[in-house]
Formats: sequence, structure tokens, C-alpha cells
Amino acid sequence: MKKFLFALALIICSSTGFASGGDWGKTGHRATAEIAENNLTDKAKNAIDELLNGYGLAFVANYADDIKSDPDYRKYGPWHYVNIDPDAEEYVLEEASDRGDLVQAIRKCIAVLKDDNVSKSEKQFYLKMLVHFVGDLHQPFHTGHSEDKGGNDIQVRWFNDGSNIHRVWDSEMINFYQMSYTELAINTRTLTKKERKSIQSGKLLDWVYESRAMAEDLYAGVENGQKLGYSYMYEHMPTVLDQLQKGGLRLAKILNDIYAEKESES
Ligand code: ADE
Ligand code: ZN
Ligand code: ZN
Repeated sequence: MKKFLFALALIICSSTGFASGGDWGKTGHRATAEIAENNLTDKAKNAIDELLNGYGLAFVANYADDIKSDPDYRKYGPWHYVNIDPDAEEYVLEEASDRGDLVQAIRKCIAVLKDDNVSKSEKQFYLKMLVHFVGDLHQPFHTGHSEDKGGNDIQVRWFNDGSNIHRVWDSEMINFYQMSYTELAINTRTLTKKERKSIQSGKLLDWVYESRAMAEDLYAGVENGQKLGYSYMYEHMPTVLDQLQKGGLRLAKILNDIYAEKESES
């Protein structure tokens, strides 16, 4: 009987996606990390190899999700998203949550990586967090509304299964596509130099506002209880791929800048 209950619990967990959890989903975060890895300068690559003991960025991309259930790391939960009031013109740090948010998280990670007085293990922790958070920033619903928890409370049907619009963007579309993270990283759009430069330009807040504007459009295109399937996926999958690519190129830019500055200091 015990065995039967255990098997039943496993089936329920896997069919509801209970065990998979969180954010772009493992594949999306790894794809963004791999794209970043492929766009590092030699200086940044060498410094990161040293910090991660030779492991790649894709290998650590889901660490921030994996620690979520550990009570010791619960305080990092709100660092995965930022909900700016839809009526607010801009992000104001003084009005932001003192539990932290995605903007404060990314700033903190960058500050730690630039700080020469921080231990290797602390730098390693914040590098892993940064790789993940820059991915989150490019999932539009991670910059959504607080009242519906970034779309988590907007229930939809994904083909014949229950889901919500946040999860459709985190993982349902990517999983349905059935490409590995390396296939996603290889099949990015070929960019002109100008397009690439334009993606990598701007500041963190520009990228937040871009994601937030996308979220507004996506909110307007979905209703509670709506059934979503092929047509939604084919309409939005190009955007998903573009967002994974932008996240990767911008993560590379952040890391290249951190280690370029370091070199010129010494
Ligand atoms: N995940 C959990 N809560 C969230 C929120 N308020 N906004 C975006 N993503 C979330
Ligand atoms: Zn998410
Ligand atoms: Zn996350």
C-alpha cells in the first residue's frame, strides 16, 4: 500500500509539473547561459572558469531555483521578479520592496563580483545567482503585476492541462518545443552587428522597462480561463527565442564589462 501511495504521489507531482518548478524552466535558463558563454571575452571566460572551477554557465544556471525550497535561502525568493506599479513611470528604489527584487538582486550580484575584498565562495554564489536572474529578467511575466503574482494567478488551459500564463511563458512553450538547451542556443537568430550592439546597449533599467512593456501586451492578449495551444505557441515562440538570446547577450555584456574593468585596474 505504501508503495502504491508513493507511486501515486510521484504521478501526481510529475503530471502537475509540481517537481519541475520555477522561472524560464531549466532549459530556458540553460539556453540563456550557454548563449552568454559563447559571447564572453577571453578575459571574462578565464576569470569565470577560475571562479566556477572549470564548469560552464549553463551548469549553474538553475542554482537560484534549486535553493528556493531550502529555508536558509528563503529570503532570496523575491529576488526573482520585480513588480513595478503599472501606473508608475519608472522604478524608484526608495519605493521598491525592502525584501529585495530583481533589480536590486542584479545590482547586488554585479557589486559583489566587482569587489576585490570578497571571498571566492561568495563570488561564486553571486555569479550563479546573476546567471539565473538575467534570464528571469527576460521572461516578461517576471516584470508583471503584483496583484496576480506576475500572471501566476491567471489560470489558463495549456492544450488539455491546467496551467497559468506565467508558467506558459516560463516553461510550457519551451518544453512543448522539445529542443535541448544547446539546440536553442545554436538556433538563435543571426544578428547584424548593429542589432547585436543595440541589444547589448542600454542600462539594466532599460531592459526592465522593455520586459515590462512586453508583459503589458501579453496581459492584454489573455483572459482568465482561456484555452491556449498551437496558435498561441506559434505566435509567441519567436519572442521566446529572442528573449533567450537577448538575455544571453546581455549577461555576456555584464560579465565582459565586469572583467574588462578589473583588468584595467590592475
Ligand atoms: N513569482 C512569484 N511571485 C511573483 C510576482 N509577484 N511577480 C512575478 N513573478 C512571481
Ligand atoms: Zn517564473
Ligand atoms: Zn528565477
